[in-house]
Amino acid sequence: MQASEFRYMQQFLLRKIGLSLADDKQYLIKSRVTRLLREHELDDANAVARAVRRDENGALAQHLLDAMTTNETLFFRDQYPFEALRDMIFPELTHAKGRHGKINIWSAAASTGQEACSIAMTASESVPEPGRVHILGTDFSARAVEYARAGVYSQMEVQRGMPIKQLLRFFDQQGSAWAVRPELKAMMHFDHANLIEDSLTAKVRRYGPFDVVFCRNVLIYFTPEERAHVIDRIARCMHKGGYFISGATETPEGRISRWNQVMFKGKRLWQLQ
Ligand SMILES: C[S@@+](CC[C@H](N)C(=O)[O-])C[C@H]1O[C@@H](n2cnc3c(N)ncnc32)[C@H](O)[C@@H]1O
Repeated sequence: MQASEFRYMQQFLLRKIGLSLADDKQYLIKSRVTRLLREHELDDANAVARAVRRDENGALAQHLLDAMTTNETLFFRDQYPFEALRDMIFPELTHAKGRHGKINIWSAAASTGQEACSIAMTASESVPEPGRVHILGTDFSARAVEYARAGVYSQMEVQRGMPIKQLLRFFDQQGSAWAVRPELKAMMHFDHANLIEDSLTAKVRRYGPFDVVFCRNVLIYFTPEERAHVIDRIARCMHKGGYFISGATETPEGRISRWNQVMFKGKRLWQLQ
């Protein structure tokens, strides 16, 4: 790739979604844009960069952002966050809010919705009156949000992490795929939201404030500075004492927000001070 086009790509990805791409990652752009070349009738990664430069808000730009991020996710990923909901957080919230108080949960960077579904299934099985649990799933990717809204997963996708008991209880078979049942779907709402935009707080706050936020396996893509801003934006959408659940290796280091570490079965969760 030409150095100037690569630099432009780096700066575009950083500015739009906070993706920090190191100088030795040219190969990543080249391999990820391969799929876009045919679809947009372009010759190579340099041509993609030039076309995006001409229209940073067009379809190609959006497809490029999608192609450069990973949507990797699965049901009940890492397990312990869902056990923490069931054994510690939901009982605490039910005690604090009574049997009817609303419980708001946000899956920030929800990808194709498996995390939000896993939260909804856990709530259905462990919260008295689960209809009062509202789950917001957000992602910057329009494709991921559409997929999550549809709530139809392939056999391969449900085989990744979903116990058969939950599959049969919460999904209807549609040919070779599985569709989320209406009662589970009613607990979830999916919307676009970009974690690095200042408008995030205003956009997401109207669904909150949140008692629990899942923000997993996305902070690693941001620079330390951007990560701190993202954490503070999220904290502004939470109740004091609300739980923040990060990826196993991620910590919520905000500039203004402060967190208490809470251990659950040897794993760290965070509580907003
Ligand atoms: C690896 S997936 C993680 C999904 C889920 N949280 C999990 O742990 O299984 C990362 C997601 O973050 C989203 N993402 C990346 N940058 C983002 C940003 N700036 N704002 C919102 N979502 C973003 C990607 O589109 C992708 O769906």
